Amino acid sequence: MEVTKVLKCPKTGNKLRFDVANSVVVVEDSPITYPINDGIVDFCPEAEDRISASYDGFASIYDSYMTSSSLSMKLFNMLFWGTDSDFEAAKQVLSYLPAEFDGVLLDVPVGTGVFTDSLYARYPNATIIAADYSMGMLQQAKKRFEKQGLNNICLIRADVAKLPVIDGAVNIVLSMAGLHAFPDKQAAVAEMGRVLHPDGSLVASCYTKGDSWRCDWFVKLFGVPKGCFNPPFFTKDDVGSYLEGFNIKRQLNMKLGVYFEAVRK
Ligand SMILES: C[S@@+](CC[C@H](N)C(=O)[O-])C[C@H]1O[C@@H](n2cnc3c(N)ncnc32)[C@H](O)[C@@H]1O
Repeated sequence: MEVTKVLKCPKTGNKLRFDVANSVVVVEDSPITYPINDGIVDFCPEAEDRISASYDGFASIYDSYMTSSSLSMKLFNMLFWGTDSDFEAAKQVLSYLPAEFDGVLLDVPVGTGVFTDSLYARYPNATIIAADYSMGMLQQAKKRFEKQGLNNICLIRADVAKLPVIDGAVNIVLSMAGLHAFPDKQAAVAEMGRVLHPDGSLVASCYTKGDSWRCDWFVKLFGVPKGCFNPPFFTKDDVGSYLEGFNIKRQLNMKLGVYFEAVRK
């Protein structure tokens, strides 16, 4: 599906037109335009926010942190998380996604795409919208997807609490390690539900509190002040109560978090 059929103006709800020559997205019947910076549509150009600034600052070291690709990151992750990489957890979350797919997938937050590029390589006929609030993270994702030759991914800077996506247009919402970062979880869940097709699925993972004092301490002393983690945090038992409008179809508990597939009620 053409991406312009899926996206809308987050302010007016009007249709959009890509004016690539002028590096803008034009809102039909409105004076509003959104800049396209280096191929990334910025739906919140006015936002200078603590959380996006924090992830902008981490973008260049994010992959090495998530995959423990250096000795210092390995030691850091072992010390605070008790595990040396997020790869296993990511593999488990992604195992909930179909082997082949040609519908509309919204990845929010896409981050740097460190775990998803090989999956998207299997979905050449899908329409993939990759959203994040941090331009720095999106720029890393863009480089990665380009290197892989993936040209069916539309990168957008957007707030999950105000998605520029029309109602019911998305077949799969993927939200890996997002819910513990989103500040307004209620709005995020409502928006992910709004854009999801009635038969669609939300596949998500997030950190859960109460599993390890070391992790909870790290999150409280470092993650929250830096803006990478934003309370309230779920426990494994109460995650469902935060997912208003959804039923959890399957849930698997990791050592330090949870991953689940949920469908609309
Ligand atoms: C821990 S990273 C996860 C990225 C990726 N899904 C992964 O698994 O590597 C959390 C991401 O959430 C993004 N984020 C935080 N608040 C957001 C919001 N309100 N809307 C969209 N993205 C947001 C951050 O910019 C960051 O890239």
